[in-house]
Amino acid sequence: MSEASAFAPSQEEPRRYDRLFIDGEWVAARSGRVIRSIDPSTEEVWAEVAEADADDVDDAVQAARRALRGPWGGYSPTKRGEMLSKLAGLVRRDARRLAEIESRDNGKPLRDTLGEVQRAADWLTFFAGAADKINGHQIPYRPDALAYTRLEPVGVVGAILPWNSPISLCSWKLGPALAAGNTVVLKPAEQTPVSLVEIGRLVEEAGFPAGVVNVVPGYGPLAGAALAAHPHVNKISFTGHHGTAAAIMKAASGNLKRCSFECGGKSPYIVFADADFERALSVAVHSAFRSTGQSCSLASRIFVERPLYEKFAAAIAERAGRIRVGMPFDERTHIGPHTSAQQRDKTEQYIALGRESGARILTGGGRPRGFPRGYFVEPTVFADVDNRSRLAREEVFGPVLAVMPFDDEEQAVEFANDTDYGLVGGLWTSDVGRAHRVAAKIEAGLVSVNTFRPVHYMLPYGGYKLSGFGRENGFDAIREYTEVKAVVVDLAQDMPADPFAD
Ligand code: NAI
Ligand code: MG
Repeated sequence: MSEASAFAPSQEEPRRYDRLFIDGEWVAARSGRVIRSIDPSTEEVWAEVAEADADDVDDAVQAARRALRGPWGGYSPTKRGEMLSKLAGLVRRDARRLAEIESRDNGKPLRDTLGEVQRAADWLTFFAGAADKINGHQIPYRPDALAYTRLEPVGVVGAILPWNSPISLCSWKLGPALAAGNTVVLKPAEQTPVSLVEIGRLVEEAGFPAGVVNVVPGYGPLAGAALAAHPHVNKISFTGHHGTAAAIMKAASGNLKRCSFECGGKSPYIVFADADFERALSVAVHSAFRSTGQSCSLASRIFVERPLYEKFAAAIAERAGRIRVGMPFDERTHIGPHTSAQQRDKTEQYIALGRESGARILTGGGRPRGFPRGYFVEPTVFADVDNRSRLAREEVFGPVLAVMPFDDEEQAVEFANDTDYGLVGGLWTSDVGRAHRVAAKIEAGLVSVNTFRPVHYMLPYGGYKLSGFGRENGFDAIREYTEVKAVVVDLAQDMPADPFAD
């Protein structure tokens, strides 16, 4: 795309998505209001989406509740799996179109969103296969009784999604929720409402019974809060800020909803002096800056053992300086703009904090040249950051890396764990004993050695501490969407003892 065509005000009218997907129908929002979705690379409104409020959310929840008792409730697990498989196939078929929509909504490079949409299909396929393998077990608690457990759906699930990876994270929630027989109300983030409306269309095309999946784009404090507080929602699955999770938890307390929260992190990436330098460096660059830093599992704090420290810090700054910031549809682009002006401003505030704190800025720190519009910021590396400073403690969610030295294994673990978060951690070493020792000590839900953040549908993923609770992915995710019922059948022939007989 040439600069001229990218930045000239487009003649295009915003695309209109004027319906919510509720009870298998496309219905107008009660309020008649719309959400204007901004293309973050041009700052123009590119789509208008019907905005759900509390009344629409209530309609969606009632529909989801009815659907539990409707045909869906009678589907065999294998048939539920087939439906998920169908949906996966449609997502795969439309991958390019969905990726283009996602890139316009959140500004990620098309090559990233294409990968994410394809992975979303993989996720749905994994959970399609899991649907008929959700077994309870038999418990030999008495010789003359049969006792077993059933894993039953929790009921109506409210899925509240963030804007950084809507389709991909939607598959993380839809997959296990539907595999286990629940029904779902999806609430996309107000910054990126479009792609989940498109998922609603594919749900319809796949032929799910009415109300099994409903899509209600809306604002957090309105539609999100209504879902969190609704007495007929049985579970909330949320990805976003821990402060929002806390508000949801309060709202959810009215009917003691089950909750699972994934709330980001400030993940440590520890490079010991015996690490393979080149591999550790190459993975670090991508792990710290991919998705413009708008990811929950970034290597945002890199700790390097003193003998390698200066060399590693200089090398990562050099590599960061070569990252190509650009327009999402340019295939040479490595990272695009921030998704919103607020997010760009947040990044710039942390860059200012880093400068004030006396940390050494090695590269970046400003806005890149050549972008008169769009929420772009340069990849930025700070060295000599104080691990107790706000830059090191708080989640920036932007392309800002803190590099710090350490002196020995004990100190590396101490620094890594001196954080309120605990989602992901990684270490690089050629000492196998140290690899397992340190992996055991890091307080995080996913720890990797000589690689970073191997997120996969087969691997449980979730946080310690402020990073949240509950696990997504793998069979651990199924547990989050099921209730355990114990059933006991007495097999005895003689009269039961009656303590009230005498
Ligand atoms: P947020 O937590 O406010 O938004 C996430 C979702 O929660 C959106 O769908 C939003 O509409 C909804 N929401 C907001 N308030 C709500 C409420 N009271 N009740 C129910 N739902 C509500 O996050 P925001 O403000 O977009 O981003 C702020 C920071 O949060 C980011 O800078 C980042 O640090 C973190 N974040 C982490 C994510 C992750 O992947 N773990 C994703 C998005 C944000
Ligand atoms: Mg947008």
